[in-house]
Amino acid sequence: MDRIIEVLKDRIGEERLNHTLSVVEEALSLAKRHKAPEDKVKIAALLHDFAKNLTLEESLRLAKEYGLKLDDVTITSTELIHGPLGARMVKEYFNIGDQEILNAITYHTTGRENMTTVEKIVFLADFIEPGREFEGIQIIRAKALEDLDEAIFMALDSTISYLLKKKSIIHVNTVHARNFLLGKRLGENINEKA
Ligand SMILES: [Fe+2]
Ligand SMILES: [Fe+2]
Repeated sequence: MDRIIEVLKDRIGEERLNHTLSVVEEALSLAKRHKAPEDKVKIAALLHDFAKNLTLEESLRLAKEYGLKLDDVTITSTELIHGPLGARMVKEYFNIGDQEILNAITYHTTGRENMTTVEKIVFLADFIEPGREFEGIQIIRAKALEDLDEAIFMALDSTISYLLKKKSIIHVNTVHARNFLLGKRLGENINEKA
């Protein structure tokens, strides 16, 4: 843990380290609340932004070096690359082989359909850590305590609205994540009626 923090301080700098530590704290509290494996959540949260402080050029060069296959949308921004690239880098740096941890890092920005509880918690903790401030965050924070899926659904809506407003590209995984949760919700309602 100390070694990881030392490496992180060098790599991502003081400010992002503070954000990271807030994400760890938030993620651990969600893990306790939702009975998720705290060890996995902690490592994934600690390392989720490992590749965040790189330029687009550096990110693309490293992705190529690692032989990482990235889709045409992901390669357009560091915001999208840093998840998959970070997962690949921490696998190398810290010899992390646990696929669930690596997936939690890979998909922490976009989300994806059918996320595990560890993935959901890292995604949400990054979204609602105490340093974040945006309209509607209090409702998502409150929802995260009782229902991870509903909280993620709200977070995805918020992200998609924000990206639409900025006229930014939206990664298909974000849309898939939202549709999946919507389908789950409708399916449950249908089951209740049956
Ligand atoms: Fe991130
Ligand atoms: Fe983050």
